[in-house]
Amino acid sequence: MPRKILVTSALPYANGAIHLGHLVEYIQTDIWVRFQKMQPRDRVAECWYVCADDTHGTPIMLRAEKDGVTPEALIGRVHGEHARDFAGFHVAFDNFHSTHSPETQAFCNTIYARLEKNGLIEKRTIEQYYDPVKQLFLPDRFIKGECPKCGAKDQYGDNCEACGAAYTPNELKNPYSAVSGARPELRDSDHYFFRLSDARCQGFLRRWTREPGRLQPEAANKMQEWLGGEGESRLTDWDISRDAPYFGFEIPGAPGKYFYVWLDAPIGYMGSFKNLCDRRGIDFDAWFRPDTETEMYHFIGKDILYFHALFWPAKLEHAGFRTPSGVFAHGFLTVDGAKMSKSRGTFITAESYLETGLDPEWLRYYYAAKLNATMEDIDLNLEDFVARVNSDLIGKYVNIASRCAGFIGKKFGGRLAAAGAEWQKPLREASARIAEAYEQREFGRALREIMALADAANVFVNDKKPWELAKQAGREAELHAACSQAIEAFRLLTLYLKPVLPRVAGAVEAFLGIAPLTWDDVAAALPEGHAINAYSHLMTRIDSKRVAALVEANRESLAPAQAKKEETPEKKPETGTEIGTGAGTPASADAGGGTIGIEDFMKVELKVARIVDAGHVEGAERLVRLSLDIGEEKPRQVFAGIKSAYDPARLVGRMTVMVANLAPRKMRFGLSEGMILAASDPEGKTPGIFLLAPDSGAQPGMRVK
Ligand code: 2FM
Ligand code: ZN
Repeated sequence: MPRKILVTSALPYANGAIHLGHLVEYIQTDIWVRFQKMQPRDRVAECWYVCADDTHGTPIMLRAEKDGVTPEALIGRVHGEHARDFAGFHVAFDNFHSTHSPETQAFCNTIYARLEKNGLIEKRTIEQYYDPVKQLFLPDRFIKGECPKCGAKDQYGDNCEACGAAYTPNELKNPYSAVSGARPELRDSDHYFFRLSDARCQGFLRRWTREPGRLQPEAANKMQEWLGGEGESRLTDWDISRDAPYFGFEIPGAPGKYFYVWLDAPIGYMGSFKNLCDRRGIDFDAWFRPDTETEMYHFIGKDILYFHALFWPAKLEHAGFRTPSGVFAHGFLTVDGAKMSKSRGTFITAESYLETGLDPEWLRYYYAAKLNATMEDIDLNLEDFVARVNSDLIGKYVNIASRCAGFIGKKFGGRLAAAGAEWQKPLREASARIAEAYEQREFGRALREIMALADAANVFVNDKKPWELAKQAGREAELHAACSQAIEAFRLLTLYLKPVLPRVAGAVEAFLGIAPLTWDDVAAALPEGHAINAYSHLMTRIDSKRVAALVEANRESLAPAQAKKEETPEKKPETGTEIGTGAGTPASADAGGGTIGIEDFMKVELKVARIVDAGHVEGAERLVRLSLDIGEEKPRQVFAGIKSAYDPARLVGRMTVMVANLAPRKMRFGLSEGMILAASDPEGKTPGIFLLAPDSGAQPGMRVK
């Protein structure tokens, strides 16, 4: 039976740029998909690659608010940027959709209703931190405070970056909201849980995770650890609801309650595929019914294994849908052996890579050379990147065509002599082994094999020395045969490299005047007399200066240390079980110098103040004494250096902004209990002092941020 395969990559969050860490996965998946699509129809009848933006959750909602746009506008803009970056790296989804879509919502509702019908949904009241200023329940990563173990300040609600301790937000000392800075309150709220602790779920997952092909061996082992032994019930129920305000889908029959972003994200795979099916006349149900013979594979990072290997199959199974045929997790990207870093310039965005003029296929090739089927991290060593691409792609592969093609054009009217030859036998025979390596996601192995074949082809060219034959009278036939055979070898190498280098392969197809190469084109050599087109440059060498420029372009002195955590919905499953391997996350950035994070800014308590009294200060040339109402019991006294610009009498009644938590300062004239804000030109071109004032309607004591 010809295979029918549906493939997905993890859905990128709709509030951040695609970076080189993301691209490991998209390039890995795209190569695998392109390989499948090259198979003859009687082997692989259909292969569809779908993705979408992951659009819901608190961070996206807050980010939109911060940018002063609606979440819909934010996700619309980011969708365009993501689509552009993917296209730039030749990542060819059949559909790049959005989880904020009617298809995804319909499947969420169906799955939820079926789980509920099966008795797998339970409503429970839980206690959760609430931000009274922002008026929202806070996800763990939006709560900060002092580590309960080591006392380090400004730690997140789930773990301490100083000592590594893991805990719950309730254990933090002096907690505060990372959104408003307010002290969060514990409040009760009704939440909906998916009853993973139910014996049906545990039994199913214990079976499913052990079935051959579903998970990589190391992933299967990890799952067994998480699941515990037979009869043990380690999985706890999963909280799948969030309270308003939340950007997501409202749960039917539960006003003010929304599906948690991680509930709807993988359902986005179905939504995207359904959207494709509707447009292309594909029978969706045939792909998603429990007894389907179609295959479905999810490529993901190892940090989200828990969601894909436990929650997702459990959801599908108990809602009467097919489960994944396999979940393929890859490791994280390091650059020059370390976590990507904004201060070092190694947190490289897809956009900057392309804008710096680097060829996306260089990166595709380098990643492929490093990729295998395990969850090991892969390192982008920038020096090795330059060396490997130049030596393999230019020195070995392109070199074959560039040394032979010209003679065919110049001397033989662009027509080939008989191109097939005995010496090419190993090149043809490698086809099955290379195919097997691609199929198994052992791309590094495939490329090693292909480069060994390129070496053999180069040995042939070096032996024949067409450039010398061309100078010798009477050796035209030899020259013609040698160049034709080399071109045929080049065609075979191109075929093998096509999943990795789709643009180059397209250019080679045009140069050779042939139809798009498929895997079975290995068998027949280009026929005698076949006309090829003029050769034009296929790929240039990497200049290491360009890579240095790329790093420079990405070096930021402003690296909000916690940017990633605050912009990314939590990945921690709420089961009390640890996830991941502690190897860091693909998108994590370290702290840089020079700027402050939002949490630092939040330490400054700015408040709207009404000037209730103002007067001159005896013996002070520049100072005005102000009495400021900031909603406290009694007004604060502040000495401000604004006398040159303001007559105290005219200040009374005005509103302004003050720093309310500045340590009081004892002055000759009395205690100054804060500071008011005013603007001035440091260069003095526009002389004067300009007191800040809030817009009308602001009340004394309001927080400014
Ligand atoms: O970890 C992430 O970046 C998530 N946005 C991945 C979601 S994958 C799937 F579940 F949708
Ligand atoms: Zn600590």
